Amino acid sequence: METKTHKGTTMNLFLHSLRTNPLTLCIAILSLALLPASAQAGSEPKRPPAPWMNTSLSPDERAALVMKEMTLNEKVSLLHGTGLKGLGPVSPLAVGSNGGAGYVVGIPRLGIPAIQMSDAAYGVRQSGENGRYSTALPNNLASAASWDLDAAYEYGALIARELRAQGYNMSLGGGVNLTREPRNGRTFEYLGEDPVLAGKMVGQVMRGEQAQHVIGDLKHYALNDQESGRNAVNVNIDKRSMRESDLLAFEIGLHESNAGAVMCSYNRVIGDYACENKYLLTDVLKKDWSFKGFVVSDWQGAHSTAKASAAGLDHEEPGEIFYGDAMKKAVESGKVPLAELDEHVHRILRSMFACGVIDDPPEKSVVDIQGGFEVAQKIEEQSIVLLRNERSQLPLDVSKVSSIAVIGAHSDVGMISGAGSAQVDPPGGNAIMLPGKGRPAWRAQIWFPTSPLKAIWAKAPHADVQYDPGTDPVAAAALAKKADVAIVFAYQWESEEADLETLSLPGHQDDLIAQVAAANPHTIVVLETGSPVTMPWAGQVAGILEAWYPGSRGADAVASVLFGDVNPSAKLPITFPSSDADLPHPALVKPPKKSTTDPADQEPWRTIAKGLPAFQITYDEGLKVGYKWYDAEKKEVLFPFGYGLSYTTYTYSNLKVSPGKSVRLSFQLANTGARAGAEIAQVYAVLPASAGEPPKRLVGWSKVKLDRGESKEVTIEIDPWYVSVFNVDQDAWQLLPGDYTFLVGSSSRDLPLKESINLK
Ligand code: BGC
Repeated sequence: METKTHKGTTMNLFLHSLRTNPLTLCIAILSLALLPASAQAGSEPKRPPAPWMNTSLSPDERAALVMKEMTLNEKVSLLHGTGLKGLGPVSPLAVGSNGGAGYVVGIPRLGIPAIQMSDAAYGVRQSGENGRYSTALPNNLASAASWDLDAAYEYGALIARELRAQGYNMSLGGGVNLTREPRNGRTFEYLGEDPVLAGKMVGQVMRGEQAQHVIGDLKHYALNDQESGRNAVNVNIDKRSMRESDLLAFEIGLHESNAGAVMCSYNRVIGDYACENKYLLTDVLKKDWSFKGFVVSDWQGAHSTAKASAAGLDHEEPGEIFYGDAMKKAVESGKVPLAELDEHVHRILRSMFACGVIDDPPEKSVVDIQGGFEVAQKIEEQSIVLLRNERSQLPLDVSKVSSIAVIGAHSDVGMISGAGSAQVDPPGGNAIMLPGKGRPAWRAQIWFPTSPLKAIWAKAPHADVQYDPGTDPVAAAALAKKADVAIVFAYQWESEEADLETLSLPGHQDDLIAQVAAANPHTIVVLETGSPVTMPWAGQVAGILEAWYPGSRGADAVASVLFGDVNPSAKLPITFPSSDADLPHPALVKPPKKSTTDPADQEPWRTIAKGLPAFQITYDEGLKVGYKWYDAEKKEVLFPFGYGLSYTTYTYSNLKVSPGKSVRLSFQLANTGARAGAEIAQVYAVLPASAGEPPKRLVGWSKVKLDRGESKEVTIEIDPWYVSVFNVDQDAWQLLPGDYTFLVGSSSRDLPLKESINLK
């Protein structure tokens, strides 16, 4: 495993260094004296009545006008950050940072503001150490389970409002790596295993962010599909598979949103680091996809100056090992053409204009905490997947349940969250420590103060609700035996920088659940996981809810589903396999020692910058990602992609498929149960045999609200792109002539409607 120090605010680190190092103090005084007054005071520079402030011009025209006035030093200053402790030298200019992961100095004399970047996967990061507050939304994979594009937009809009309130103008959220390896420690930060679902969802998150005038960023481009050895690994994959799966998620995301930035990843892809990979950055991203924004390196993902620049890397973070002085010298000596440097600068300025961060800079204000709670709860309610409901155990009927045993996973005080650079800090500190006891450390297990026990109590005020921590399965089972219903909370924690060894629940939780289930036939399991988990006890329990990492108001959302105030509608954005042995790669590929940094190394960033020896991962499953793998290999799964139950039932009938520029499907969907609900109706396509594709792929869906007894005709138009294949020889998407079969239903393995047509 790599070593990386917790990334505190550059401002704090700098102040710390001032206290301990008199030389830094002199440099600081000198640098501050050289800074313009506006930058020293930390206020936004006054906008000169400059031609580029004419908002009727295009972002490209405006960027070009500013560039005419810029010196070489000013241009270079936009191409890098100002440093972060543990990841290379920190510049004295970092004093102007707002406390986020990245800070790029502005050019006050030209009215160009600084870029203040913050991580913001499921909420704004580092609010604890900056004395601020952020909402934790349900984690990203959870949000994908809603399949709800409006909710995804709102997800992005809320993050962006909170970014602006905290003084940031660029988000580093937007993780959309496709799940090839579900044990990846960052699976919770991504949007599942299907490129169309993931791409469309991330596109809406980006649209929601950019509409608030924050630069959006998609990451980690590309194939950064596991954390183990991420700075060294070389991914081998064929081009068609890459384009039709992992890269397609990014392509759709960009197509839907015009995100202003893309972060290249740490790993190598077919020999070259992603951040100096000409195929990925120039041939595909900038040329084929016409991406107009800028490419930012992952933090210390840059490894060269001239090679990276020629390949298409526009901006280095967090410091200036390759894109500061080294870049200036490379331009002066002709190793990097001036036109190439100008293109990097142009792209950065263009995104700043296009996303509105120059015309509408953020102003700090108080985050709308209450509003955040409401959005977080609403999204979680749409993201909780009901996986099992034997004998209609759920929803619980308050009038009939007189005693409830709440067991496990610190469910008396909180619910788990995902760690690493995605971590959102909980108000009052970690719920399993004394409130206010310090801010969370890098990669600590953080429990949000949203108590299932209290939320259940609130729903069933007359019931006898008892808690058992689950540390002793025998004691927990004894409590369960006495209760009408036992609810066991179980968790799987994940974090950046490490992968899961297995999809099994950690510790003795499987045993705990089995013992409780044996003691009480009315046992319900609530999972707090960021990835699929295996469930050897699945057949023994009455109910299973997947609540993911549920965010600031998770417990209330879970209680609303348990007691039926909310009828669950979410569907799995990822397959839950029966065992690790069924995965395309049953064992996680681990790096050899030489491809990791030495824990004794005081300055691992130097080793990483030079480049660690590569080790190989070969994604020979190719196009068969997620459900496409299990379908092709004819493997049974625990819960399939697209699966999720409701408290009502739906029937599908009368499919009609009409050809045209885009294929149009219509069918009848009826709510045949006793409650109102929303069904996510899914369409899969089987391509002509000549295409050589996995058995089927998701090509569309519609989330349909239906009252009890209501029936609607649903129409779904299929984007021809989604039924196309990527022709590597022609370097283009191609719709093959032949017979296409469309399958419609409630999950990838429950598709009652089927119709074929011939497309020319
Ligand atoms: C992560 C990125 C993150 C960056 C800045 C890196 O370690 O991979 O996702 O945006 O740090 O914190």
